[in-house]
Amino acid sequence: MTDLTNELTAWDRDHFFHPSTHMAAHARGDTPTRVVTGGEGVYITDRDGKRSLDAFAGLYCVNVGYGRREIADAIAEQAGKLAYYHAYVGHGSEPSIALAKMIVDRAPAGMSRVYFGLSGSDANETNIKLVWYYNNILGRPEKKKIISRWRGYHGSGVMTGSLTGLELFHKAFDLPRPPVLHTEAPYYFRRADRSMSEEQFSQHCADRLEALIQAEGPETIAAFIGEPVLGTGGIVPPPAGYWEKIQAVLDKHDILLIADEVVTGFGRLGSMFGSDHYGIKPDLITIAKGLTSAYAPLSGVIVGERVWKVLEQGSDQLGPIGHGWTYSAHPLCAAAGVANLELVDRLDLVTNARETGGYFRAALTDALGGHPMVGEVRGEGMLAAVEFVADRDDRRFFPAEAKVGPRLSAALLERGVIARAMPQGDILGFAPPLCLTREEADIVVAATAKAVKAVAAEL
Ligand SMILES: Cc1ncc(COP(=O)(O)O)c(C=O)c1O
Repeated sequence: MTDLTNELTAWDRDHFFHPSTHMAAHARGDTPTRVVTGGEGVYITDRDGKRSLDAFAGLYCVNVGYGRREIADAIAEQAGKLAYYHAYVGHGSEPSIALAKMIVDRAPAGMSRVYFGLSGSDANETNIKLVWYYNNILGRPEKKKIISRWRGYHGSGVMTGSLTGLELFHKAFDLPRPPVLHTEAPYYFRRADRSMSEEQFSQHCADRLEALIQAEGPETIAAFIGEPVLGTGGIVPPPAGYWEKIQAVLDKHDILLIADEVVTGFGRLGSMFGSDHYGIKPDLITIAKGLTSAYAPLSGVIVGERVWKVLEQGSDQLGPIGHGWTYSAHPLCAAAGVANLELVDRLDLVTNARETGGYFRAALTDALGGHPMVGEVRGEGMLAAVEFVADRDDRRFFPAEAKVGPRLSAALLERGVIARAMPQGDILGFAPPLCLTREEADIVVAATAKAVKAVAAEL
């Protein structure tokens, strides 16, 4: 066993190309390899027997928590019956059809069809192609540009990495690429003019969007994409009135709205969808993560009635749509999705996200809100962030080289809790499984307070 342990570490360093990892440091052995071997509830365990409370639910995806037998059994049963058949040319499997119905039943009003993929990135790729296809069918070949926001996260493919508005995902990749444009992030805490109220700042964001559309020509702008709550860009709920004002600008110029609900879909905000939570009326919705709680990889695009009608009409002109993945609507993943959504309902996890999430954020605010290094504690439902500043009175940020965020998440891990150092700014992100209890929330808050005290003492 000892040998295997050593060998696995060597094989990992020599052969495993990890995503979002410092490649050289990992290959040299400067950074730890953590081999995760088990999970139960909100905890993961590694092969050294170390247990951590995962207050980020993997990558905000294990919404029902680890070790759910019901989902494992549903996958196994489907594998025994039919592990795979494709979904091309009208084929389907029982779970993929049932899941499409379950999704539309839970989706905001006006949603019509579900196209299945495997990742949030590929679903957003599908979105962009559908938007182009839609405008081609409508005879508007020039209406193709997509507006995204700085600090948005929509994936890391060529097009989706362009939609993403974070430096790390562009640097040395020759991204972003046209026809993607970026507009102001709805990040009230970081607003340039600190005298603005939330409503004024929302109006400012809508005005910036209008100005960009006018500068480019409204006839060239096809769609706007945004997460109801900015996720990887800092876990930032929108300022008051934001979505209403943005939606009005889009409606005026006949621009489609894509709500990227990869993080917010299926309960994370304490509502089934973020679009309903904020009164957003999207044309297309991206889903992934919470659809299966990551027990199997599955994503989707929920297509609204307005777009669907045009696509349908397009088939009569163009024939079958030339878009599909081998694994679209994979039966094993769909079986995981059906069992997962049943569990979300049975355990009433959407309510728990709202209630325990609210308790968790209030406790974080009580414990940390007055700390001189804490600029803001924010969040919505079972999503929270603590943003750190060098000086809270003049809102001065730490230099990136000080790596305050990563040091805080490392200090928290030493105390048995996983939170994520968000990639741009010194922000600790929390997105626990939606089944978190108040006792578990207290453990996260106590460990965070200790970690902040320890790092503050070093600075
Ligand atoms: C809002 C949002 N969209 C898209 C993605 C991309 O999903 P994936 O990593 O499954 O490609 C993510 C991933 O974190 C996300 O947070």
